[in-house]
Amino acid sequence: MPEIKFVPDNVVTQAEQGENLLEVMVSAGVYIHAGCGGAGVCGKCQVVVAAGEVTTQALKKAAKDKVKPGHTLACQTFIGATDVTVEIPDDSRIRKMASSEGEPVVKGQRITRQQVESFMLSEDPQPPVKKYAVQLTEPTVEDNTSDLQRLTNALRTEHGADVRDVDFHVLPVLPALLREANWQATATVANGWESCPDHLVRVQPGDSASPNLALAVDVGTTSVWVALVDTASREVLAEASDYNQQISFGEDVISRIIFSAKGDGLADIQKAVAGSINKLTQDVLDKAGAPRDAVSFIAAAGNTTMTQLLLGIDARNIRLSPYIPAANVFPPVEAVQAGLDMPRGVMLYAFPCVASYVGGDIVSGIAAYGLHKRPEMTLYMDIGTNGEIVVGNSDFMMCASCSAGPAFEGGGLEFGMRATIGAVEGFALNPDNLDEPMILTIGRTKPIGICGSGIITLLAELMQFGVLQQNGKFNQDAPTKRVRQGEGGKLEYVVVWKDDAGVDSDIVLSEPDIDNLIRAKGAMYSGAHTLVEHVGLTMDMIERVVITGSFGNYVNLAKAVFIGLLPDLPADKFFYMRNGSLAGARLACVDRAFLRTAEEVSRMMTHVELSEAPAYMDKYMAAQFLPHTDASLFPNVMKILQK
Ligand code: FES
Repeated sequence: MPEIKFVPDNVVTQAEQGENLLEVMVSAGVYIHAGCGGAGVCGKCQVVVAAGEVTTQALKKAAKDKVKPGHTLACQTFIGATDVTVEIPDDSRIRKMASSEGEPVVKGQRITRQQVESFMLSEDPQPPVKKYAVQLTEPTVEDNTSDLQRLTNALRTEHGADVRDVDFHVLPVLPALLREANWQATATVANGWESCPDHLVRVQPGDSASPNLALAVDVGTTSVWVALVDTASREVLAEASDYNQQISFGEDVISRIIFSAKGDGLADIQKAVAGSINKLTQDVLDKAGAPRDAVSFIAAAGNTTMTQLLLGIDARNIRLSPYIPAANVFPPVEAVQAGLDMPRGVMLYAFPCVASYVGGDIVSGIAAYGLHKRPEMTLYMDIGTNGEIVVGNSDFMMCASCSAGPAFEGGGLEFGMRATIGAVEGFALNPDNLDEPMILTIGRTKPIGICGSGIITLLAELMQFGVLQQNGKFNQDAPTKRVRQGEGGKLEYVVVWKDDAGVDSDIVLSEPDIDNLIRAKGAMYSGAHTLVEHVGLTMDMIERVVITGSFGNYVNLAKAVFIGLLPDLPADKFFYMRNGSLAGARLACVDRAFLRTAEEVSRMMTHVELSEAPAYMDKYMAAQFLPHTDASLFPNVMKILQK
């Protein structure tokens, strides 16, 4: 990976080829003026590329006269193949590097897809569902074996596939299919489940063995992500995400379960999530220009409620004491049975769960990260509506869940949104002029809302520069006109003025929004704190903290520590894995051994019910402050706040 050096602060970071320079700067904590979210029109993010290879986009008309000779706009510049040195001119700089101001330097190391694959893929990865093209000989009076026998014989002799079982739906259409296709066919054979080796699930006319595509799906309570994967090259061909359509039946798993228990509720709620997956499937197929027929397998990772509702399984007992799920390991099922718009024979693999509130999403993430193979004592936090936490290493893994609410996925906030185009994901205040923040949006377009990573950074910056008080209330005496009384008298902060926004109003963060965020971060932190103590450890004994969630490309972990979402630990302990649940689902699409790994991981995890841990509620209440009512837990943050 190319190394990027920023002078004069001498900050060094790594970036991927093709990465946008402004995004690299935000994730490295290098702050410059950037008023238009990276849309390339304000002309403020000027830098000088002193050495190395970059590519730049043609300047937009609005910025043309503003860019000085020899300067380039960071938001329109992309990293090339070599190391790069970038000089930040004085008039672009908002402030010196955070580290030089004594801020806790918690950048967090990104765990890349390549790292996940090199650690977790088996030696000879084979997809759980394979497609074989066969040319059969036409039967004769002398050679009169049945159509099915003829097919399975060819699979054995031509491809070494020892088919032991056949899905019945294949048979009624097989005779006509083979004859109409002149005895050339493609057989799909599933071999991922321990319970059904070499299982014939589909036969198609002609040779359609390639491409053999699969869908990795993260079924979140708030958001659904789908990645289209080529099982041969292991490349992700396209990715898409959207809100889970079940949201109209309630924001959290409890309200979904209650809805599903009434009348046709279960069918309706299954249809809703299937609708989300179907829409996203169409999106990724369109993006990749791939035919639906080429998809042969779907791996879905979701929390226990999401998994049961997707599979159409009665979920009522999940919310009733003693909180028993219908199953922890799910048998093979056809995607069409879950309402997915797929031909018969496309198999759906649902990740195994651990308990009613610790599901296949965390199992998928833990297995992808390989926590069960690592010696370091690790705190793994999946930050989402249903927050899930694991503490452990290769010797043991304890897990718990907490209801954090959808705030970090943009839910429940007036201008909250998912991590998608137009979402504010980076924010920095200029201490010399609090009215001129730096704003970075995903896709570098005009801002239309704020996503989870933007919200974390925004809260931390407002707090650090005295605009927001530790009790979550705005400081009306702060020297900025951005704090004002909104409709109904509530105080709010204007993140983006209407003129700079891609929506027809100011984009604001209000005190009720902040109350929601404090509840969410308090639930996550107190859950982690309770679990760490439950296993007899203290936070400083944790050797690694791995954060995952639907945050998009990065989350500023220093800011997450600052607001009390993450523990105040040294920088080199923090790692960020983008959507761990989806990462595991991707591995399941390309490596059948990973399905067994996931089952093994789910068996290794021991569940702790936080609602029955007496310490949890006290810790939750104590965490309803920024960063925490117990200042001794956040010594580095307090040092900065007390300056
Ligand atoms: S021109 Fe780059 S942020 Fe506005």
